Amino acid sequence: MPGNVVLIGPMGSGKSSVGAALARRLSRPHVDTDHFFVARNGPIPRYFATHGEQAFRAEEERIVAVLLDAPRPSVISLGGGSVTSAATRSLLADHFVVLLDVTAAQAELRIGDAATRPVLTEGTQDPPIERWKRIYAEREPLYRQLADLVVSAEEASIEDRVDTIVEAMRKGRTEHK
Ligand code: S3P
Repeated sequence: MPGNVVLIGPMGSGKSSVGAALARRLSRPHVDTDHFFVARNGPIPRYFATHGEQAFRAEEERIVAVLLDAPRPSVISLGGGSVTSAATRSLLADHFVVLLDVTAAQAELRIGDAATRPVLTEGTQDPPIERWKRIYAEREPLYRQLADLVVSAEEASIEDRVDTIVEAMRKGRTEHK
């Protein structure tokens, strides 16, 4: 259903934690595409090892389409790579899309050894944060092009980020009256 709040951004940007807090504040359901993926298919690293990234992206694209069509306006946290799908990008036009920006240093603390994120570890000896930087540089134009609101990396606390999003939603409603 149109009218969801959709959180996008790179791995380790806090999409799940900010999404949960925002949903509580708005009294809306929170759904996380990665959690939904795992509930249906098992752990992401195992899925990558068995089926490969392309199959993961196809399944992720299907899941995002189902969740965006939620029966009630929801808060939806997308996996960091969802925006690489053109089909997903066009579906996002009907929703309020929030990019959670993050610095490499903040992301590094959150991703740790990246054990649950095979895109950062497969086929490389580099530290996960080096791969993270390359992937973020590739995807950043997509994130920025899709975002109705960018929450700055300087707003580090979850509650500050929620306040900024709620305020922007309020303003948006007034401006559209
Ligand atoms: C990925 C991000 C992950 C998860 C998968 C691939 C990516 O989600 O979907 O490991 O390609 O950026 P988070 O952004 O929630 O870590």
